[in-house]
Amino acid sequence: MTTLQEEFLRTFHAVHPSVTARAMAHGKSADGRSSYELLRDRVSACDRVLDLGCGDGLLLELLAARPTGAPSVLAGLDLSAEELALARRRPGLGRTDLRVGRAQQLSFSDAQFDGCVSHMALMLMSEAERVAAEVARVLAPGGTLAVALGAGVAGGEACESFLRLARPLFEAAPAAQQIPPLGDPRLRTRDGFDAVFRPAGFAPAEWETVRLDLTGPLERVWRTVGTYYDLGPLDPAVTAELRARFEAEAAAMALPDGRIPCGMKVHLATAVGGRGA
Ligand SMILES: C[S@@+](CC[C@H](N)C(=O)[O-])C[C@H]1O[C@@H](n2cnc3c(N)ncnc32)[C@H](O)[C@@H]1O
Repeated sequence: MTTLQEEFLRTFHAVHPSVTARAMAHGKSADGRSSYELLRDRVSACDRVLDLGCGDGLLLELLAARPTGAPSVLAGLDLSAEELALARRRPGLGRTDLRVGRAQQLSFSDAQFDGCVSHMALMLMSEAERVAAEVARVLAPGGTLAVALGAGVAGGEACESFLRLARPLFEAAPAAQQIPPLGDPRLRTRDGFDAVFRPAGFAPAEWETVRLDLTGPLERVWRTVGTYYDLGPLDPAVTAELRARFEAEAAAMALPDGRIPCGMKVHLATAVGGRGA
């Protein structure tokens, strides 16, 4: 059953496909890898990999081109047909199984995969226990689940300024311009994640919080903060005013080379499990 939240996500991604990859692909962790590359490397030993909420297929393309060799089975699932249309255009994904669908009801076979990744998508999903049960079913025993989950903005930089300016506007927006609550907040904390995934047979997650450096030109930093779903339904005049105020604050933070300091945090969780039935 499609939920109101999923309806919102589908509509948003139809209008803004690729929004996450464009905002986050250039983000660098302390060792220089992007959050997509960090997930790719967490399933480097897996030969049959599923990407849940794969969006425009950036992570799938990295998996297909990984140094250890492409997985023999590579699949991606997303609610959004428009995101998947972009994934289908990626040259590296000609043989990837891309499906429109809900993570709560996977159309894949029991034990079809030995790795499952999900970048910035799992925490948006409702009915978390159903998602966990489905991931456990399609993963073979001993399979690896590796996910990146939104963990907020880095302090003292432009992304934090954006939120300080934007939150009151999001809260004051008329009901018709507010977004539904998205996903399950438990999936943004280690204890909550384990509370959902352990009953589905997963071991306690390895949990790490990483800062992504998204410092860059003002235009690109605006695109990064533009991933906030709340901006979607906002009155365009309010968004324009927010952008002007944000750009003024951000410009005052500019580094000597003109770039705007900006950072976001992600939790990286890896858990071993899989029932295959
Ligand atoms: C923030 S975007 C991330 C996209 C991509 N993983 C990336 O990081 O570039 C979240 C994606 O999850 C998908 N999604 C959210 N809930 C879903 C669900 N229940 N089943 C399948 N896909 C879902 C959305 O359609 C959207 O494409």
